[in-house]
Amino acid sequence: MDKIKQLVDKREEARLGGGQKRIDSQHSKGKFAARERINMLLDEGSFEELDMFVTHRCVNFGLEKEKYYGDGVVIGHGTIDGRSVYVFAQDFTVFGGSLSETMALKICKVMDLAMKMGAPVIGINDSGGARIQEGVTALAGYAEIFERNILASGVVPQISAIFGPCAGGAVYSPALTDFILMTEENSYMFVTGPKVVKSVTNEVISTEDLGGARIHASKSGVAHFRAENEQDCISKIRELVSYIPQNNMEEAPVMECNDPADRVEEALNTIIPDDPNKPYDIKNVINAITDNGQFMEVHADFAKNVVVGFARFNGVSTGIIANQPAFLAGVLDCNASRKAARFIRFCDAFNIPILTLVDVPGFLPGSGQEYAGIITHGAKLMFAYGEATVPKVTVTLRKSYGGAHCVMSSKQLRGDFNYAWPTAEIAVMGASGAIEVLEGRTISKMEDPAEKAKFIEEKTNEYKDKFANPYMAASYGYIDDVIEPRNTRFRVIRAFQALQTKKLANPLKKHSNIPL
Ligand code: HXC
Repeated sequence: MDKIKQLVDKREEARLGGGQKRIDSQHSKGKFAARERINMLLDEGSFEELDMFVTHRCVNFGLEKEKYYGDGVVIGHGTIDGRSVYVFAQDFTVFGGSLSETMALKICKVMDLAMKMGAPVIGINDSGGARIQEGVTALAGYAEIFERNILASGVVPQISAIFGPCAGGAVYSPALTDFILMTEENSYMFVTGPKVVKSVTNEVISTEDLGGARIHASKSGVAHFRAENEQDCISKIRELVSYIPQNNMEEAPVMECNDPADRVEEALNTIIPDDPNKPYDIKNVINAITDNGQFMEVHADFAKNVVVGFARFNGVSTGIIANQPAFLAGVLDCNASRKAARFIRFCDAFNIPILTLVDVPGFLPGSGQEYAGIITHGAKLMFAYGEATVPKVTVTLRKSYGGAHCVMSSKQLRGDFNYAWPTAEIAVMGASGAIEVLEGRTISKMEDPAEKAKFIEEKTNEYKDKFANPYMAASYGYIDDVIEPRNTRFRVIRAFQALQTKKLANPLKKHSNIPL
């Protein structure tokens, strides 16, 4: 009995991490403790903890006298909606969640198990970085984790929640994972903190402005989701997991669907404004066609000119990429290109079909974009689409001009079913730009303004008759069918159903060389 009491006592001690005082301090900052976070994340009672009695081995700076069971990270496995996941949560109450050699071994253990079992890894980060007293063993520990992140990429989904500081090299493990979620408060990521920034560059900047959730969700694009608080973030993780498969050999779970597959949405027939330069919100189209109007947007605050995220069609998880005419006219720029490219590659790696909704005036011109590498970033998006072998359905709603037409899952980039609405305009460029190039010389010689206006109008109408419609592209078979907008849901579902047996493989190679 003594031995059992000893076990119970040891477990009790381990559950307190760095002690009740530090747990209270964590609570006072609006933060939860590591085990509380795991319990919120997983199905009730499903958590199996491992390595509860691990302690560090450091003897520097008197650390041998200060040991805590678990050594700053809680690891194990459990379920989310009955599906297995592997988790680790750094415990800020133990040396500020700083990474030691043994903490790294624990994280590596749980990642190795996830790979062996083919299940997602979810990491909750709350750490002061490398444990300063340990030095090189902590650094080596980070590198061991990085290597596992890299090898697991594209094999099992990896999700990182940032629930505290994440500084120095510590940011790179989350950066190697598929999705990063940050909370409005207490969550920040940077390679060097404000103090170092000040001493090196003389820039004075707050923690929030340097690496808070708002910055990373809107400016840098490092964070895919911004949550109000930890509970909100955890419910977002659970929702995200519902859209993705356990590993790259499986498909995402199919949910029961009570939204009729043949639901007709009359409003879509009039959603495109008569004026081609007038915007409309593409999210209204997305919500009108997905199961029960549900859509989990990824990168909602970053590069809003393209919208990406997960939805279901007749219960089947699908990745949606859509130009957003309501923001910068839906133009493709550097950030929009890399945002969409990364999302496409996630979907392709994990067998999630892709629906593309096109209304794009082209790539954003100008020195700003050229200097920022729009050529490389645009190529990245093209590469991602062209390399993807998952089912790809494309619907062109309105504009599809020039290089952007080729990029946005065109037939020639192996789009499986390419549909267009009657409002589609598929051309090298818009009418006014085209007439300026084709007739510029003639127009410049015209002196009578009325004659000039009439000439331009005639030529513009001639161009529009030819290209401001989907029928030229359809006559070549580049568009498989012109569909009534109100039938889009039904046609998309039917297309994906037909594609369920799709088999397509790329040529064997070590790996491709995507323009990074
Ligand atoms: C050891 C650490 C620690 C660390 C914090 N603690 N960071 N112990 N190594 N890296 C301990 C503190 O001593 C303290 O112990 C407890 O954790 C809580 O820390 P506080 O400072 O009291 O908390 P707070 O005020 O909330 O500040 C949190 C913090 C700050 C912003 C994270 O502690 C901090 O700046 N830490 C250092 C961050 C850093 O520079 N890390 C190295 C990055 S370089 P007690 O006993 O008082 O509770 C790196 C290289 C990796 O990570 C490279 C990989 C490639």
